[in-house]
Amino acid sequence: MENRIEQIEAEALALLSDASDVEQIKSLSVKYLGRKGLVTLFLRNISELPVDERPEAGKQANITKKRLESAFEEAAKRMEADFSDDSDAIDVSLPGRPSPQGSLHPITTITRHICSIFARMGFDIAEGPEVENDYYNFEALNIPKNHPARDMQDTFYVSENIVLRTHTSPIQVHVMEQNAPPIRIVAPGKVYRCDSDLTHTPMFHQVEGLLVDEEVSFGDLKGILESLVHQIFDENIRLRFRPSFFPFTEPSAEVDILCVMCRGKGCKVCSQTGWLEVMGCGMVHPAVFENVGYDTSIFSGFAFGMGVERLAMLKYGINDLRMFFESDLRFLRQF
Ligand code: DAH
Repeated sequence: MENRIEQIEAEALALLSDASDVEQIKSLSVKYLGRKGLVTLFLRNISELPVDERPEAGKQANITKKRLESAFEEAAKRMEADFSDDSDAIDVSLPGRPSPQGSLHPITTITRHICSIFARMGFDIAEGPEVENDYYNFEALNIPKNHPARDMQDTFYVSENIVLRTHTSPIQVHVMEQNAPPIRIVAPGKVYRCDSDLTHTPMFHQVEGLLVDEEVSFGDLKGILESLVHQIFDENIRLRFRPSFFPFTEPSAEVDILCVMCRGKGCKVCSQTGWLEVMGCGMVHPAVFENVGYDTSIFSGFAFGMGVERLAMLKYGINDLRMFFESDLRFLRQF
């Protein structure tokens, strides 16, 4: 009988050494120590042994029971510790850890949207340098030195004749210098001005447009800009062209759109006027064509320039310009 209980113990310990997880240890514990476990049954049946064998068998069985109990317990503890120390244990059933995924900045999104609308109308995308010669930023655009129009576009001077561009209009000049008409381009990019308050940041974004061909009219300009505004907002947003002045266009106009917030009723966003100013435009000034060597008796063209932040604020209902540049994830995650 002593042999029998020793056998049970040896077998249990052998199986335990093969166990590879806590579940297996639990079922071994049931098999040997549970209500119908082998050790339990052995103890229960001791009364069936010859009287003189009972004390020794009982003692032996109780020792086995205790040893197995602590062996199972220790093995289970060791295994749990192995799993919580993730140095080498890999739980392949856990879901993977996703790496955070970024998204496009709202300025990038709307810039691409504007460019894709023009691309469908046959415009190419052009780019130019952000550090610009005074000539391209001002002179070639019919803004001579000491012209009062420079006042509105005070900028950062790298040296006397090199500036951070104040608008995307110099790209018009680069494109015309390098290409003969017909020209159809839009040019997105960063621009810089010595301005910093609630509604101005020293760096912001514009999209410039230029079309040059024979017999281009102001009507063509209106049609293209109307199509743009309808595609960015919706078909019910009317446009209004107000006479204005830019040295590089003649005639020049400011484009207002019906307030997208109140639809013309008057609200805080449109200062109760019902209209929002969104861009400048006009027919290219002959002086600009002469600067790039285009024959003004054959060619005419129109140009326009819009502020991207302003359009993005109206499109997405953002009321504070600074949010674009604060890198606050709570803001950016919404796009
Ligand atoms: N460059 C002008 C600005 O930044 C905007 C502008 C007005 C661009 C009229 C144009 C234009 O191309 O025709 O204020």
